[in-house]
Amino acid sequence: MRVKVTVNGRRHQADDVWEGESLLYLLRERLGLPGSKNACEQGECGSCTVRLDGVPVCACLVAAGQAEGRDVVTVEGLADHARRRDGATPSDPGGTPLAQARRWTPREAGLSPVQQAFIDAGAVQCGFCTPGLLVAADELLERLPEPSDADIREALAGNLCRCTGYEKILDAVRLAAARRPAPASAPAPIRGGGPGGGTTGGTGGGTTGGTGGGTGPRGDGGAR
Ligand code: FES
Ligand code: FES
Repeated sequence: MRVKVTVNGRRHQADDVWEGESLLYLLRERLGLPGSKNACEQGECGSCTVRLDGVPVCACLVAAGQAEGRDVVTVEGLADHARRRDGATPSDPGGTPLAQARRWTPREAGLSPVQQAFIDAGAVQCGFCTPGLLVAADELLERLPEPSDADIREALAGNLCRCTGYEKILDAVRLAAARRPAPASAPAPIRGGGPGGGTTGGTGGGTTGGTGGGTGPRGDGGAR
């Protein structure tokens, strides 16, 4: 079977794809994008989370053929995705070429705000869960720019981490949310007072428990 799919803004074609082959295998082994991690292959851990037409899915549960003609964003494309979302020009309008992806370094590619927040909050230890958490957190902040702690726990409930204890991860998402620029709005009428002086909020210092309590990875074709 031949599969044509757009990954991180670049069109790819894969031939001889087996009917039972997963999107995760296609990304990692055929397209040279190992950022999405293969841990459980059962939709339990979220390490393989990618966005399929904007929706976070467990790539291990999605058949490669289901991605035919669709749009995938992986952790490798998160920075470009954030730039596009913010109206800036991505580093390459056609996505990242395969040869360039294989030479990828953080310094060269730049980081998305949520990636930088994970670093700054110390939310990465072994890093195996991090790509999936980043994709899920980025989608949450795109959908809900000012999430409550319950929203964050719900969005990340399907992503398991064995190292950090989750508190730093929650701090990182709060930090990324607090750093998001205020949405552009029409200038307020001048009524004689000084500038409004709205604040962007701090980094949310409170500690919280684990992310449990929300819904876990979904089984409907990998949708989380
Ligand atoms: S590898 Fe664990 S959910 Fe896909
Ligand atoms: S940082 Fe190691 S599993 Fe999450």
